[in-house]
Amino acid sequence: SKAPVRVAVTGAAGQIGYSLLFRIASGEMLGKDQPVILQLLDLPQAQKAVKGVMMELEDCAFPLLAGMVATDDPNVAFKDAQIALLVGARPRGPGMERKDLLTENAKIFTVQGAAIGQYADPNIKVLVVGNPCNTNAYIAMKTAEKFGRVNTKNFTGMLRLDHNRALSQLASKTGRSVSSLTKLVVWGNHSPTMYADYRFCLSNGDNVKALVNDDVWNSDVFLPTVGKRGAAIIEARGLSSAASAANAAIDHIRDWVLGSNGEWVTMGVPSDGSYGIPEGIIYGVPCITENGEYKVVKDLEIDAFSRERMTVTLNELLEEREGVKDLL
Ligand code: NAI
Repeated sequence: SKAPVRVAVTGAAGQIGYSLLFRIASGEMLGKDQPVILQLLDLPQAQKAVKGVMMELEDCAFPLLAGMVATDDPNVAFKDAQIALLVGARPRGPGMERKDLLTENAKIFTVQGAAIGQYADPNIKVLVVGNPCNTNAYIAMKTAEKFGRVNTKNFTGMLRLDHNRALSQLASKTGRSVSSLTKLVVWGNHSPTMYADYRFCLSNGDNVKALVNDDVWNSDVFLPTVGKRGAAIIEARGLSSAASAANAAIDHIRDWVLGSNGEWVTMGVPSDGSYGIPEGIIYGVPCITENGEYKVVKDLEIDAFSRERMTVTLNELLEEREGVKDLL
């Protein structure tokens, strides 16, 4: 049988954690033959709640759950970790400016980036879910880089929820099944500025843009619906999306580790300079994953409408980078 994989999860006592951990332990993320050890990080005041979640994990008697630790020390949580899901973050409080949110989170992600850089497995795969997730991933990557140990290409941000939201909207618009849809991309930042692009999208060989055949729907209904979906969930539920966020995190890591079988998946990855995105910026791009590695799909044609959208979301990321540069 396989050796267990060490999976670090931060914010383990939170909403997303409560959906995520059980699915990781059941084998939905790394495969039904892959044992896992969960290394759970949360704040000191949340340790009691983490213990409660661990009691429930025990009570599931998952055959693949080979061990668990709970800690408030990032150096312990990331020790030898091969996968890290950075979910815990400082939420935006009343009266808090965007800038304050950025700097408060920057403090968290410099500490965690340093712990990963020093103690994690050198090939650790990192997915940042906690918002602002692209910039938090950038901060963790830049900090980890200083230690020269870990592969910093493997710091990613989560655009998969936007990707899945867009798939679902397109399926209902076209009357096609979600599973028939391929080659969707969500460019840029995980924020309302993201650009969900179905120009290349196919459904059983049919071009989805031609099936939709409605540019006004694209700009006035589809893009705002996908971009503001998080706010719509908060409005309806009184809480932010959690199960769907956990599901997207599972999809992101599963496809990265087990492969996307030639299909495109959207990942926020450090730019290699393609599509005019400055190197290192964590930007949503189409990827094909194979043998535990992602490859960015290159040389797609970018029309004027798309370029404009891609620039808006890039500019937001450049502003965020500017806002945290003194902390790096
Ligand atoms: P939550 O507030 O229910 O849980 C967050 C947990 O993180 C809490 O247990 C808290 O104690 C912990 N935490 C805070 N600071 C920490 C630190 N420095 N180290 C370790 N743990 C820490 O929040 P929820 O609903 O689970 O969401 C978590 C994050 O995910 C938020 O930032 C949210 O905005 C983000 N999110 C991202 C999505 C995406 O698509 N990228 C989608 C949905 C949510």
